[in-house]
Amino acid sequence: MSVAIDHVLEETRRFTPDDEFRKLANLKSFEEFERLYKQSLEDPDAFWGKFAKELHWFKRWKRVLNKDNAPFFKWFEGGTTNICYNCLDRHLSTWRKNKAAIIWEGEPYGERRMFTYLELHRLVCKFANALKNLGIKKGDRVAIYLPMIPELPIAMLACARIGATHNVVFGGFSANALIDRINDAQAKMVITADGGFRRGQVVDLKGAVDEALGKCPSVTNVIVVQRSHTPIKEWVRGRDIWWHEVMEHASDGCPAEELDAEHPLYILYTSGSTGKPKGILHTTGGYMVATYLTSKYVFDLRDEDTFWCTADIGWVTGHSYIIYGILANGATSVMYEGAPNYPTPDRFWQIVERYRVNVFYTAPTAIRAFARWGEGWPAKNDLSSLRLLGTVGEPINPEAWMWYHKNIGGGRCPIVDTWWQTETGQIMITTLPGAMSTKPGHAGLPFFGVKAAVVDEEGHEVGPDNSGLLVITEPWPAMLRTLYGDDERYKEFYWSKFSKHGWYFTGDGAYKDRDGYYMIIGRIDDVINVSGHRLGTMEIESALVSHPLVVEAAVVGFPHEIKGQGLCAFVSVPVGTVPAERDKDVLRDHVAKMIGAIAKPDQIHFTEALPKTRSGKIMRRLLRDIASGRDTTGDTTTLEDYSVLARLREERET
Ligand code: PRX
Repeated sequence: MSVAIDHVLEETRRFTPDDEFRKLANLKSFEEFERLYKQSLEDPDAFWGKFAKELHWFKRWKRVLNKDNAPFFKWFEGGTTNICYNCLDRHLSTWRKNKAAIIWEGEPYGERRMFTYLELHRLVCKFANALKNLGIKKGDRVAIYLPMIPELPIAMLACARIGATHNVVFGGFSANALIDRINDAQAKMVITADGGFRRGQVVDLKGAVDEALGKCPSVTNVIVVQRSHTPIKEWVRGRDIWWHEVMEHASDGCPAEELDAEHPLYILYTSGSTGKPKGILHTTGGYMVATYLTSKYVFDLRDEDTFWCTADIGWVTGHSYIIYGILANGATSVMYEGAPNYPTPDRFWQIVERYRVNVFYTAPTAIRAFARWGEGWPAKNDLSSLRLLGTVGEPINPEAWMWYHKNIGGGRCPIVDTWWQTETGQIMITTLPGAMSTKPGHAGLPFFGVKAAVVDEEGHEVGPDNSGLLVITEPWPAMLRTLYGDDERYKEFYWSKFSKHGWYFTGDGAYKDRDGYYMIIGRIDDVINVSGHRLGTMEIESALVSHPLVVEAAVVGFPHEIKGQGLCAFVSVPVGTVPAERDKDVLRDHVAKMIGAIAKPDQIHFTEALPKTRSGKIMRRLLRDIASGRDTTGDTTTLEDYSVLARLREERET
């Protein structure tokens, strides 16, 4: 890791936007940025108030930020609004009513649909009425377990319209993961599909829901979208209903509910350093204003733009930058159902060419995969419509950055490397493309209203080019409000480490260089970022030990060429058991069943015992060294049993 960082810190390349880009940009100069940034910190009321007024409010707020009960902050207190109204209705009285809101491309070739703002509004209203007809009310939770099909944003926007809180569960999660999420949120309804397409295969979503619902007493109805047209194994009369049937009977007039600015908009579960996923709660007003503003300035959105964020809506990136922030701006958002390399490794570039995408936002892991597939694939397509590129989800290595710049951006497109989290709801650290130059591997500067610092364990700011912990020292509008139903854990996880200072701890390590640019190193807690997806080591360890073959397990990350980090599991088995090579696959499948395929370990090592300190703590640092093939130097004097380490090393070498 340190070698890679030195390499990035010594980065001398700078890329400045050309005059043409700058001239047309929403923010044209660094001076303009500095002026607004200063105002955003010195007078947040005026700053946020000014931009919030660009959106629709039923009732104006009384106070922009209420800090009285920190860390339970309130934004736009006293104001009432509706984010669905702002994403749809607000545009209907303008020329945008017949503009494409969502352009959807299915994975099977030739399937595409385009929804104007007017048409999307009609469908959302209809579905909102369908939800109401089935007894869903303001404040109820609705779980959404759908593939990347148009019904997913329609369902989310319909929930937001009537004030139901949605909980989208990524379609790659298993039935078990679904149980935890549905039960924690106490969801009343699940919206799913018969199946979803992934690399030409059908993923049986309805089957997973059926498996889960035996253990989810809160759910009374399941709405099923007919997507794959594959046979349904089980249909529970009175509980299961087809999407097209509920839509048929629903009217298309549904006024948007007037909601308090702090009304819960959605819950999204994410991994933390404990075994249980955390239900991140986002509310309405602050989230709406901040995703609107970041979309406008970070992606420099213009009315003629076609914007494409390749994330799955099952993650926060899709919530904020396929749906809410982008539609609040009245822009055109592209949504693609399938895999980047299906049926050929240029599927993304075909989509860019077909829809003349102007702004493209993806993850470093995808860029590394494209680089491996070769520059011939993008070169086959016309990518000249692109004018701005973005990345998110994990640190981007300078090689991948340069490849992206040259082969996708044609050397002319600025790249915004955006740092943020499920918890932050909005982009927090980035460059603004018309106002700042970029440096490969460096995210950039805090966005308006965001105050960050890199500090040591005691909270002292570290000097330039020294690594430390990344903290956010002031509240920001799209921040999580709590962990659903667990205020204590919210305080403990995010606010206890620097409670004296009242800072939010991100869980990330970072550097700040002499220009003030932040460079994110990655998680310093027990969270591993695999292909931009956050996975908790404890979660995977609990999945492993729930299998009879496993006595104890420790999972660590190691550098992986494509995924950024891979997962390596060290597993001890019952005394006298001799595990076979195929047991590794058995355990991988078991993890996929317990969590989802994304959590399958890349490496599994069987061991008689895990290396532990005398006080019984697993020596993860040693395991990380072994997993990454590094020499296990460093202090091992507390190692309880040296022979354990020797055997693990031996196993790696054979
Ligand atoms: O470690 C950071 C990394 O992703 C984590 C947040 O993951 P998640 O909540 O799943 O949200 C991902 C998409 C917003 C962070 O704690 N991360 C995210 N963006 C970057 C990043 N690391 C480096 N550079 C980034 N641009």
